Amino acid sequence: MTANPISIQKTKNPKNRPSADSLGFGRYFTDHMFLASYSTQKGWHNLRITPYEPIPLDPGASVLHYGQALFEGMKAFSHQDGSCVLFRPEFNWARMAEGAERLCMIAPPKEVFIEGIKELIKVDRDWIPSEKGCSLYIRPTLIGSESFLGVRPAEEYLFFTILSPVASYYGEGTKAVKIWVEEEYLRAAPGGLGATKAAANYAGSLKAALQAKKNSYSQVLWLDVNRQYIEEVGTMNVFFVFENEIVTPSLEGTILGGGTRNSIITLLKSKNKPVVERRVKLQEVRDAAANGTLKEIFGTGTAAVISPVGELAAKDWKISVNNGEMGPVAASLYEELTGIQNGTVKDTFNWLYKI
Ligand SMILES: Cc1ncc(COP(=O)(O)O)c(C=O)c1O
Repeated sequence: MTANPISIQKTKNPKNRPSADSLGFGRYFTDHMFLASYSTQKGWHNLRITPYEPIPLDPGASVLHYGQALFEGMKAFSHQDGSCVLFRPEFNWARMAEGAERLCMIAPPKEVFIEGIKELIKVDRDWIPSEKGCSLYIRPTLIGSESFLGVRPAEEYLFFTILSPVASYYGEGTKAVKIWVEEEYLRAAPGGLGATKAAANYAGSLKAALQAKKNSYSQVLWLDVNRQYIEEVGTMNVFFVFENEIVTPSLEGTILGGGTRNSIITLLKSKNKPVVERRVKLQEVRDAAANGTLKEIFGTGTAAVISPVGELAAKDWKISVNNGEMGPVAASLYEELTGIQNGTVKDTFNWLYKI
């Protein structure tokens, strides 16, 4: 337990539970939320679980003006023996702490982050769906809450966590998705916020994503500032299975280092598969598609887990990958990672955190 006690106020009006087939992604929120406040004078204080409700925020709060906002995305799973686990919560805490440093925010200490989420899930435990492919998505969020109009880091922060029972991120499940190569807009530039889960990165990505969706593409593939090297997909890191190696773009400050990416690299290395982190030129992928050495492309992320890419397209070209289907490398990684998460495959790497 944290030295800082968590008060719990339960709702008097529990919501109706949505059926598993209506879940989709992020449509429903559970009955409660966790909050913690920070001020320079008091440090982290007032740790509380309350009914899920709107949060009062001063119109002068720094998040509303200068965008001091960071979030995380992680999942809890229910196991057949009735237990319930978090997947790699320390990874998400560490990423939030790094992002907070870049945005001059104060991150909650690890025990506030993890204990708060753990206690919240205990309260809303019967919201964790047990159907195949479903889980409880966890959205820890940190915002600057001080009301002050000068441009400087806030001296007050609010950390809150909300929960959403979810099914597959894309309506397609593990069916291959079509991805648009974005050659006009840019997600991140060297020296910017690309390596953080800053809300601002997502605001900047919406226009390109909307345009891609209009043309029936699920997400965009972002390129580097010179539009030559591949960075990542909208909400996923990306892997290329070439004939002799499995490659994912190296983390050089403009890409979000995904927890799923890290887990997949670890799984591949444990099997002595030739996985490499390096820069990947878009032209290299197009050439490999043309000469038959590109076997698979897949995205990795908490929401989608592993999402095979069946088509990559830009204004004047298009390539089909593995006949538009999930390939064997993606399929076996999907089975293994979801197996660990669901408790049917041994957790050799100690990724599960029991609640
Ligand atoms: C931009 C971006 N890249 C990559 C990822 C994958 O990260 P993770 O595997 O930690 O979910 C996400 C999802 O959170 C994302 O939003």
